[in-house]
Amino acid sequence: MPKPIYVLSGPNLNLLGTREPEIYGHQTLDDIHRLCEARATSLGFTVVCRQSNHEGVLVDWIQEARFDASAVVLNPAAYGHTSVALLDALKMLSIPVVECHLSNPAARESFRRKTYVSLVAAGVVSGFGGASYELAVEAAAGLAR
Ligand code: DQA
Repeated sequence: MPKPIYVLSGPNLNLLGTREPEIYGHQTLDDIHRLCEARATSLGFTVVCRQSNHEGVLVDWIQEARFDASAVVLNPAAYGHTSVALLDALKMLSIPVVECHLSNPAARESFRRKTYVSLVAAGVVSGFGGASYELAVEAAAGLAR
């Protein structure tokens, strides 16, 4: 059995379902994690799904992924637009990183158009709501093979 795919989510994503549903949809993060698990299972992988509002905690999990994961799916949320610390942690990985977003940040405010994570991600899936995560897990599994 390959190492799990880490599915990591950043700040405010714990409030999915009630947070700006017109942008982020009505699914909760638990709903999305269940979809990721099902998709990963169908591809012969497992997932470890975690969310934190704290930048340093996300850095710790990315560092852990160096040894314990076969790939990382990351929705950095707002930290994607601001965090050099997340970028530096991601640069230490020798496993694939797939960035994902529920919304399409490129179609929103100009400050969302750039993410530091994109500098190291193998690819970005955005704009498909919870399905962005499922597609990102599928892409990560394909890259991790
Ligand atoms: C987000 C997009 C970010 O710009 C925003 O800060 C988020 C969520 C998304 O999933 O669409 O918190 O990453």
